Amino acid sequence: MARAKVQYQCSECGAQAPKWAGQCGECGAWNTLSEVVAVVATAAGKDRFAGYAGDAAAKVQTLSEVQPGSETRVPTGIGELDRVLGGGLVSGSVVLIGGDPGIGKSTLLLQALIRLDGGMKALYVTGEESPQQVSLRARRLGVPTEGLRLLAETSVERILEQARREQPRVMVIDSIQTAWTELLQSAPGSVAQVRESAAQLVRHAKQTGTALFLVGHVTKEGTLAGPRVLEHMVDTVLYFEGDAGGRYRMVRAIKNRFGAVNELGVFAMTGEGLREVRNPSSIFLSRHQDAVAGSVIMVTMEGTRPLLVEVQALVDDSQLANPRRVTVGLEHNRLAMLLAVQHRHGGVFMNDQDVFVNVVGGVRVSETAADLPVLLAVLSSFRDRSLPSDLVVFGEVGLAGEIRPVPNGLERLREAAKLGFRRALVPAANVPREGVGDLDIRALSRYPEVLDWFA
Ligand code: TYD
Ligand code: MG
Repeated sequence: MARAKVQYQCSECGAQAPKWAGQCGECGAWNTLSEVVAVVATAAGKDRFAGYAGDAAAKVQTLSEVQPGSETRVPTGIGELDRVLGGGLVSGSVVLIGGDPGIGKSTLLLQALIRLDGGMKALYVTGEESPQQVSLRARRLGVPTEGLRLLAETSVERILEQARREQPRVMVIDSIQTAWTELLQSAPGSVAQVRESAAQLVRHAKQTGTALFLVGHVTKEGTLAGPRVLEHMVDTVLYFEGDAGGRYRMVRAIKNRFGAVNELGVFAMTGEGLREVRNPSSIFLSRHQDAVAGSVIMVTMEGTRPLLVEVQALVDDSQLANPRRVTVGLEHNRLAMLLAVQHRHGGVFMNDQDVFVNVVGGVRVSETAADLPVLLAVLSSFRDRSLPSDLVVFGEVGLAGEIRPVPNGLERLREAAKLGFRRALVPAANVPREGVGDLDIRALSRYPEVLDWFA
């Protein structure tokens, strides 16, 4: 294959240059030039950018004239994965799955391909591990592997050649960072290579209707390595997260053109691969023998599912001029804000205290329903008094000291009642008209009421 012409493009201003330079000649930005494939004005060149348009010239239509193609969904055979995908795999869709090394990306996809419904043809392309290693893992999973086709290859051109021959309905590229294309001279793993390789694979998936999984590595900062541009080239972005040493692993959709985002799939890593956790609402609760100070159980919503997690706080005399504010699994700025609300509206002074807050089990809580649990945990640790062990809490706290309602109040309360909790502390506007089980629900509307309740 002839080498395509290579150019360099500035990521700031888009200017193109025939040679790499440290500084962009147009806008003067430093270190912004990266390699791109030059667009050639031939039929083949245009085809690279054809997208959905096809051959015929596009015409303008009204939206109602457009017939939505019936998207066929294929269950992957792993219910929790189907859940985050929005109900199964869509043909022609491209799913990027990111996560720390060793979290279980390869294991999950191998399991999914093996269990794929109706014996659909699947191709697993491994660029990181040898076929022997993959086979060893498959054996550990203890499932028949006759149907699965395997290819150890990193060149995108050769992968696509094989894919055209094999015509798999589902293809996995493990990982996109090892893939490289002949069109570019830069090294595999570089931003330009990752982007161009992914573009070629995505094009193939769209043209042939192959469902494509791309495995992506995560940088130390926790974002997908390579450019963020990968995230908007694909239909679905899944993140694999969880405690490195822990048993539980979660797959979260952060972008999904075919389903809801923030849906969570929960797995446990076992000796025989990943096992689905179908009812995860209580797995993150550590059962203390006696109630301990600084611990609060909150009900958080993960997508459409309520999940009970423990929020822990430790408040301790600080030796520092600027006392520490540390959060794990929660937003850091939110803690500073909550402590300010607590001081201003409750008169609780903690400026000489270090405050640490942690969500147990490696869960990340990003919703505001954690406000009230965080404040209660902090208060409980500060006063060294435990809260009742059969209590659940949720609610948002506003800057004016008001306790604001959160979505899905009833679902949260029902789940807590189902798991045997007897008491709930919730925003007044979240109190349901009828009772929930035999849950004793206490309504709060302003922050000082929290202090009264705790007095
Ligand atoms: P892997 O799936 O290779 O992770 P990734 O592709 O995200 O880098 O490995 C997951 C880890 O899980 C690995 O450290 C070994 C472990 N593991 C088990 O505990 N049980 C198993 O059955 C398998 C296959 C792996
Ligand atoms: Mg892997």
